Amino acid sequence: MLRTHTCGELRLTDHNTTATLCGWVQTIRDKGGVLWIDLRDRYGITQLLLEDGQTAPELFTTARSLGREFVVKATGTVIERKSKNPNIPTGDVELKVTSLEVLNPAKLPPFLIEDETDGGDDLRMKYRYLDLRRNPVRKSLELRHRMAQQTRVYMDGQDFIEVETPVLIKSTPEGARDFVVPSRMNPGEFYALPQSPQTFKQLLMVSGFDRYYQIVKCFRDEDLRADRQPEFTQIDCEMSFVEQEDILNMFEGLVRHLFKAVKGIDMATVPRMTYADAMKFYGSDKPDTRFGMEFVELKGTFDTVDMTSGKGFGVFDSAELVVGINATGCAYYTRKQLDELTDWIKRPQIGAKGLIYVRYNEDGTLKSSVDKFYSETELKAWAAHFGAKPGDLMLILSGDCAKARKQLSELRLEMGSRLGLRDPNVFSTLWVLDFPLLEFGEEENRWFAMHHPFTSPKPEDIPLLDTDLGAVRANAYDLVINGTEVGGGSIRIFNRDLQARMFSILGFSDEEAKAQFGFLMDAFEFGAPPHGGIAFGFDRLCSLFGGADSIRDFIAFPKNNSGRDVMIDSPSAISQAQLNELKIATIAK
Ligand code: AMO
Repeated sequence: MLRTHTCGELRLTDHNTTATLCGWVQTIRDKGGVLWIDLRDRYGITQLLLEDGQTAPELFTTARSLGREFVVKATGTVIERKSKNPNIPTGDVELKVTSLEVLNPAKLPPFLIEDETDGGDDLRMKYRYLDLRRNPVRKSLELRHRMAQQTRVYMDGQDFIEVETPVLIKSTPEGARDFVVPSRMNPGEFYALPQSPQTFKQLLMVSGFDRYYQIVKCFRDEDLRADRQPEFTQIDCEMSFVEQEDILNMFEGLVRHLFKAVKGIDMATVPRMTYADAMKFYGSDKPDTRFGMEFVELKGTFDTVDMTSGKGFGVFDSAELVVGINATGCAYYTRKQLDELTDWIKRPQIGAKGLIYVRYNEDGTLKSSVDKFYSETELKAWAAHFGAKPGDLMLILSGDCAKARKQLSELRLEMGSRLGLRDPNVFSTLWVLDFPLLEFGEEENRWFAMHHPFTSPKPEDIPLLDTDLGAVRANAYDLVINGTEVGGGSIRIFNRDLQARMFSILGFSDEEAKAQFGFLMDAFEFGAPPHGGIAFGFDRLCSLFGGADSIRDFIAFPKNNSGRDVMIDSPSAISQAQLNELKIATIAK
């Protein structure tokens, strides 16, 4: 070993001993007679000291030739510092240098290797290996490591077996777009990279493995967002002889274990909410439950009393849904602030036509943007319905049910952020249950599986497959933390006929279903056990634990928003010779 200690290790107890450290030069402070170097490695920073009369002059020469990020090896005596630094664990000591060697010089890095850097996103991505030297990014990857370790501890303790499934598989039309890989040995044919190991884990259940898991790379060619990468990692799990309740308990256990082992947090029992309620009260299937601000309907689609129609306000009269939120304590919002909020919600990304407000003044009077149509008595009745108090502000949207809910959901999150109700160090978990089995794609004019085609309908809803496809609920569940979907799964179909029926509902002909998924349906005829599972988005889970919005810094070498790795410059063209070998003659434009 070139070193005796790391840069995070030395303490006063090492006083007067000799130590050799290796690391990167963080800073140099040269006061003429005294020179300090902060030497950094993964473990911390230790101060090196060179002093006139005590240190050989040639060491001063070497030290003065150093630049930021030079790699050096220093030997010396550990001494107590005169002015201690209480902010770092090694802050009581310094190394009085007796030997200093440059292991490798370094060019000036293109951005500061410090917690707060001056490097923009693009630059940091291009020099990701330098970005990874920075504490916050390194800590994110250390957290990821601990999460993976603790996942294995829990899963192993529950008798799950880690099995690797193939990465070169078969392209299927369901789900997101596939990344494909041409096959040299089978010209004109392509493998696909797995979007998830779904069918393989089900086959492992047919094989009798009973409890499977894998921390596994998945690939999806979809548009990227802060919580989406084209290649990402799942904790993928499957169990046999279980019902939904068993899966929920087992994996609530995993999340509880991770919270305790990694963050020292005792997690409460995860509350459960149906998909229908999530949509009604939060306008989202992944509600952020760190705060309330639940939706209140003034005119609903089913059971709500209509508190708005027939007063001459055409916008509400023609609306399918009139729905709002109560922003506690926001009655002080000025006209300007309300206009700004209205502009915010009218942006194309959200697309609301307008925003109605009712201000419940501290003095008990009410002022609204629809005073022309609704009397103070009527507004009072609304306020009571909202549970609003003097000092509150009600914000109301209307229109098509699905659209109004989506828009109000965005507004709710925005208000939550503005009111400081979305603290990243507070964790609110939620199971969302009873998802619809199918959703109708207007553009394609066909039904799609909401989770995936292998998801089982609720047994009691199976008759609805003949009469009302949109009403069939699935034995499917998502785990949501702070408004992020961190995991999703379902109880699976394990009967060939039901699976074939599902494919037919999704528009597959018998031949297509056989060609795409014949292997799975065949397997169901060789003794498939009842089974179900779940997959967690591992990157998302890590970023949530790390209190970050983006999953990027929890991935060592992520892609940018255009799906590029700007460091290695990928994707990139390949040579004509390679194309020839793959029998790919032309590339369509
Ligand atoms: P699903 O498609 O819901 O289910 O994926 C499971 C979880 O993976 C995460 N995730 C992603 N994370 C980062 N980038 C992406 N592009 C991305 N896409 C998904 C989410 C999501 O909850 N085979 C099923 C699971 C099952 O039924 O057992 C599946 O893949 O956190």
